[in-house]
Amino acid sequence: MIKLINICKTFKTESSSQQILDNVNFSILPEDFITIAGPSGCGKSTLLSIISLLTTPDEGKITYNGTNVDFSSQKQLEKLRINYTGLIFQNPNLISSLSVLENILLPADYKKYGKKSIINKAKKLLDEVGLSSKINADVTKLSGGEQQRVSIVRALINEPKVLFCDEPTGALDQKTSGQILQLLLDVAKKNKTAIVMVTHDNNIWQKGTRKVRLQEGNLIEMA
Ligand SMILES: Nc1ncnc2c1ncn2[C@@H]1O[C@H](COP(=O)(O)OP(=O)(O)OP(=O)(O)O)[C@@H](O)[C@H]1O
Ligand SMILES: [Mg+2]
Repeated sequence: MIKLINICKTFKTESSSQQILDNVNFSILPEDFITIAGPSGCGKSTLLSIISLLTTPDEGKITYNGTNVDFSSQKQLEKLRINYTGLIFQNPNLISSLSVLENILLPADYKKYGKKSIINKAKKLLDEVGLSSKINADVTKLSGGEQQRVSIVRALINEPKVLFCDEPTGALDQKTSGQILQLLLDVAKKNKTAIVMVTHDNNIWQKGTRKVRLQEGNLIEMA
């Protein structure tokens, strides 16, 4: 579904140059649950940002369902992002002046779904994450775990093919972290969404159906 071919990325400053990705080749298949580990600063977030089309690689090619990604075309990038990708980060990054539903509807693609059907979808997803009763709540009054559940619904609202998660439970206590992870896996399965998850937690990493490590610019898949 998504293919990376010889992807390279180097960050340069006046005095130094740091190669983050060195000819990375990798494929993401429908309904994969890929976990990515690697030392702090090795480039996991950068890799996620490149695969999800938020950062331009220096070299190499990315294809989405066989279509070559053209990083100079904002229009194509926007279309691919909206059709394929959902993003979840360590912090939920909700807008505090908006309600739960309003936050979820922020990235909604009304052209594709229409307002009524998107609100129904938001309600269904909120139900799946156990937050039906909080639909009109003030997001600042939710717990960290509840806020993260709202961000999961927001990430799923346009029915992405892949959810990119960067340490999605990193800010939560162990118990909540386990619950959120399970919920994420259940909701992704129900909605037939692949997951690519960066994690520092070895227990979470072990749960991946495909486990990879980013080491010295290379992605190494473990058996
Ligand atoms: N926009 C940028 N400009 C220059 N350097 C950058 C930029 N983004 C990231 N870097 C550098 O690239 C390296 C990799 O960063 P990245 O955030 O991808 O690491 P990471 O593996 O996600 O780390 P962590 O596990 O701590 O989150 C770091 O040394 C970082 O300082
Ligand atoms: Mg990171």
